[in-house]
Amino acid sequence: MPNRDYQNQRRDYDAPGLSKTQLHPSPFIQFSHWMKDVLASPIQDATAMSLATVDASGQPHNRIVLLKETTEEGFIFYTHYDSEKGHEIATNPKAALLFFWPELDRQVRIEGELIKVSNATSQTYFESRPRDSQLAALSSMQSQPVASRKALEETFAKKAEQYQNQTIPHPEHWGGYCLVPNKFEFWQGRPNRLHDRFIYTPTALKETWDIQRLSP
Ligand SMILES: Cc1cc2nc3c(=O)[nH]c(=O)nc-3n(C[C@H](O)[C@H](O)[C@H](O)COP(=O)(O)O)c2cc1C
Repeated sequence: MPNRDYQNQRRDYDAPGLSKTQLHPSPFIQFSHWMKDVLASPIQDATAMSLATVDASGQPHNRIVLLKETTEEGFIFYTHYDSEKGHEIATNPKAALLFFWPELDRQVRIEGELIKVSNATSQTYFESRPRDSQLAALSSMQSQPVASRKALEETFAKKAEQYQNQTIPHPEHWGGYCLVPNKFEFWQGRPNRLHDRFIYTPTALKETWDIQRLSP
């Protein structure tokens, strides 16, 4: 039976429109313009993005991670290399990212392949993290069963004691991935469900991008 509480959740989108002429020829720069708008607004977890990967059986898996850096190559996040996602990425590097900023009526979809960032890059970022986050990375076997909350906190306390007054070493199992994109979509909510959608795909020589409006 349809759930009325869900069905009544609707609103109109009335953000200013998006046209091809307004879009930057580079999807990376277009993304940075939108991210600038997000960071200037009081949106929480502005850099949170859904990361979709696929396992060996073809089953997709989805989770939120935080975007930590964009480079000329792609979009970087950090995680545990031995996590469920780490195993999926080792089997199949194809992945998709999704940002949704409801306050701005905007969505961005990015598809491509994941590569590990260099160990030096991971180490530099690890060293910039708060000490407790470093200890957590050392204490958590991400995605593995754990006996109890108590067991987790005990491991954390043991690591804190072990490295008291010492630099916490960057664990090899922890590091970054960079999603190297081959497709972007920018979605702007508009009135009457006639939303603006534009996709960027690489041109034949992969030096520039084609921009195409899609039906909403
Ligand atoms: C707001 C938010 C931010 C998160 N950021 C990260 C992150 O940057 N890296 C990460 O490994 N997990 C992050 N997580 C946890 C993941 O969603 C996920 O639970 C974890 O990575 C294990 O995923 P897996 O079992 O599919 O490997 C975040 C979760 C939330 C809700």
